[in-house]
Amino acid sequence: MTTSRKVYMETLGCQMNFNDSEVMLGLLKKEGFEPVDNKHEADLLIVNTCQIRGSAEDKAFSYLGTWGKLKAKKPHVKIAMAGCVSQQNKDAIFKRAPYVDIVFGTQNIHELPELVRKAFDGERQVLAVDRQKPRSTYDYLSDIAPVRESDISAWVTIIEGCDYFCTYCVVPYTRGRQISRAPESIIREVLQLAANGFKEITLLGQTVDSYGKDFEDRQYGLAELLYELSEISGIERIRFMTSHPLDLTDRIIDAVAELPKVMEYIHIPMQAGDDEILERMKRGYTSQQYYDLVRKIYDKVPNAAVTGDFIVGFPGETDEQFRRSVESVAIADIHAANTAAYSPRKQTPAAIWEERGQEISDEVKQERLQILNEAIHRQSLRKNLEYAGKTVEVLVEGKSKRNPERLTGRTRTNKVVNFNAPYSEDELVGKLIQVEITEPLPFSLIGNMVVPAEAMPVLQ
Ligand code: SAH
Ligand code: SF4
Ligand code: F3S
Repeated sequence: MTTSRKVYMETLGCQMNFNDSEVMLGLLKKEGFEPVDNKHEADLLIVNTCQIRGSAEDKAFSYLGTWGKLKAKKPHVKIAMAGCVSQQNKDAIFKRAPYVDIVFGTQNIHELPELVRKAFDGERQVLAVDRQKPRSTYDYLSDIAPVRESDISAWVTIIEGCDYFCTYCVVPYTRGRQISRAPESIIREVLQLAANGFKEITLLGQTVDSYGKDFEDRQYGLAELLYELSEISGIERIRFMTSHPLDLTDRIIDAVAELPKVMEYIHIPMQAGDDEILERMKRGYTSQQYYDLVRKIYDKVPNAAVTGDFIVGFPGETDEQFRRSVESVAIADIHAANTAAYSPRKQTPAAIWEERGQEISDEVKQERLQILNEAIHRQSLRKNLEYAGKTVEVLVEGKSKRNPERLTGRTRTNKVVNFNAPYSEDELVGKLIQVEITEPLPFSLIGNMVVPAEAMPVLQ
């Protein structure tokens, strides 16, 4: 009798990587591997890597360093590196970290069982980092049952890669060209999720709103998909991210407005508030076009929340140009934004400009990051204050991490709500309830559950 082998996984990067990791665990489960939370118990260690910034890449190698020491004591342990760093660095990884057994890329996830078998059969330095396939990786994987983190809310990857080649960004190199997953494969997965009791899905892609543009045999886009998925009973909430300003068509915005199951939440990165910087980033829009787009969303979709991303310290960014990013937060009237200091990425044009002397010092980048973050916090609080005294729909996720007396969930606009309720976690998890907001904070809302009249005890 063979005892089951154990796998430990660390995931870095975006939601697409988290979804990929869930699929990898699903594939390995079929091979008899059991996922564990303790790396010391594992026979197989996998890091799913991100290359978007230098810090993410460093973190991956720091995991590998620790695991290399672990393996020195337990030589039967195998180490695998997956994801965006592998896809880009290929066999160079084996030189840098010779104790690594398997390197495989974002395009080779479906081959994982075979790669693992080879490694456990004694083959050293198993490499699989092929370039683009004719179909989406997820089309090869639609029969897999991913091991998901949540049993209420699921990630569903619908488009891979990116064709934009913004001048700072590594994604088109790590994820390849844009390739949309067949609608039939997506619908099959979502039907299965509904049958398994999932309530919420988030459709994923680096430019999720350009879904379907690469289909040659049909006219089918994100709006069409949203209409079809809305028909699936059991699924109560549908989100999608990340949108690109150039792809967010009126048809998609109308679908958000019309379909009750599609949430009033749109994440569209702006990246910079200055037109010259936007042009040098090759984003394809001006600040005014971004403002007009957000205004259109707010006009068409009442109560919507738009959020964004910004990069500070892009090569050559002047103080004045940076100021425009700060100002744009209030002008665009967004609800929140992620921020990052520009990090030069090999292969990208902006990295070469940095080398040619347009580099912004780390000190200035950090100073700008702090100023921009403060502006975003003020704006987020301003937007959250609009919720005071209002009653909002919340999908309950579980106990609040900060205060176990409270439960936690999210609004339709993706805001975290921590609330008091006269019910236990088990009674409410996965349910849609109403919460009256009593205290808006910059990053979350606090409130009390509104108990429906029919649930009240009858008073004599
Ligand atoms: N596809 C999305 C976002 C992709 S990456 C879009 O087009 O907006 C997620 C975020 O990482 C980006 O929005 C950007 O703000 C940040 N990012 C990407 N490359 C970066 C780099 N080289 N340095 C710093 N931040 C970067
Ligand atoms: Fe990167 Fe630009 Fe593609 Fe977004 S649109 S993934 S920022 S290249
Ligand atoms: Fe990182 Fe790759 Fe996602 S570089 S942000 S994990 S697509």
